[in-house]
Amino acid sequence: MRLNQCHNFHDFRKLAKRRLPGPIFNYIDGGSDDEVTYRENTNAFDRCDLLPSVLRGVSEVDMSVTVMGQKLDMPVYCSPTALQRLFHHQGERAVAAAAEKYGTMFGVSSLGTVSLEELRQKHKNPQVYQFYFHKDRGLNTAMMQRAKEAGVEVMMLTVDSITGGNRERDLRTGFSIPFRLTLGGMIQFAIKPMWGINYVTHEKFRLPQLEEHVDMGGGASSIGGYFTDMLDPSMNWDDVAQMVRDWDGQFCLKGIMTVEDARRAADVGCTGVVLSNHGGRQLDGSRTPFDQLAEIVDAVGDRLDVMMDSGIQRGTHVLKALSLGAKAVGVGRQYLYPLAAAGQVGVERALGLMRAEIGRDMKLMGVTRIDELTRDNIRFRGLPPNSISAHKGAA
Ligand SMILES: Cc1cc2nc3c(=O)[nH]c(=O)nc-3n(C[C@H](O)[C@H](O)[C@H](O)COP(=O)(O)O)c2cc1C
Repeated sequence: MRLNQCHNFHDFRKLAKRRLPGPIFNYIDGGSDDEVTYRENTNAFDRCDLLPSVLRGVSEVDMSVTVMGQKLDMPVYCSPTALQRLFHHQGERAVAAAAEKYGTMFGVSSLGTVSLEELRQKHKNPQVYQFYFHKDRGLNTAMMQRAKEAGVEVMMLTVDSITGGNRERDLRTGFSIPFRLTLGGMIQFAIKPMWGINYVTHEKFRLPQLEEHVDMGGGASSIGGYFTDMLDPSMNWDDVAQMVRDWDGQFCLKGIMTVEDARRAADVGCTGVVLSNHGGRQLDGSRTPFDQLAEIVDAVGDRLDVMMDSGIQRGTHVLKALSLGAKAVGVGRQYLYPLAAAGQVGVERALGLMRAEIGRDMKLMGVTRIDELTRDNIRFRGLPPNSISAHKGAA
């Protein structure tokens, strides 16, 4: 199987699986506990049907949106994900460049493997910095300062990872940084020698956002150790309010799921929330962002930008989320499998296919602008047509 034979999410996933050692593939591919939420994230879109309008003159389609103060050429952005150079030696460089090609935003994780400064200097498209909250308040201030000085446009504080999710696939393979593989895990590396050759012949693996502060050399200071020793589970709304004041710019919370929390986010001055369950990697059994989207848009959509991620694989998924009132949507595995499969050209192909799907689907829906998508365009199976209140466009 080759890249030009990849036509959708599942094809990229298959190719990534062929290229990656099992423990790394399963780190990307896995969710927490029984992976119920992970599966439901995508299933949720299938419970909602699109209602196309016809004969509307759709020769020119404009799919641009403005979200968190940033103009994006397409309504999909690359959500921040950890450890990208482990998946392909180009890592974040490939994702940032592909996102730039398609005029969209990309996220850099606190656990990113290329420095946020390098990426900000090289690319013109908007950049998100994904933040974890540390016990050491001085460290938090220093990191925000660093992102501010680099010119990062959007600060995104992840709030659904107050403790690590139970990823049993990783327990079985022994995936951790540094590697502490089980015998089975080692064998899986041995049968994918090309990955190993690439890994050792390219620039050394680093975590530049953290290396000044955390020794990733091993022992207690592994990534697992970072989560338990350095992140602060006592983080609360006062801390967020302080961070929002310190950042003094576009600030969103990633991992909001309730109306009450979304209201509090608006109250403390956040300019956006991302409905997310971390791609089913944290609390298994939690509701899907798509199922919860209408409630949150109705409660706070006039006060801040509501976005969502988790489970998005298709252009039609994007249109359904935007019809409910999301301003834009994030993807994770949708670009990570292509990254693992082929680096930058892989991510470009995936974003290009997504763009083509959205354009085609908009035409088939009879809309030429994103703000023409409304709740009139969708129906939830088994529910009467007026069961979700009218929402007129993503505006
Ligand atoms: C391999 C992997 C690593 C991730 N790392 C981070 C991270 O460092 N910080 C973060 O806030 N979210 C992280 N996420 C979550 C993504 O930002 C996003 O919420 C999720 O992938 C969306 O679900 P999807 O993969 O179904 O699109 C990660 C997701 C994956 C799959």
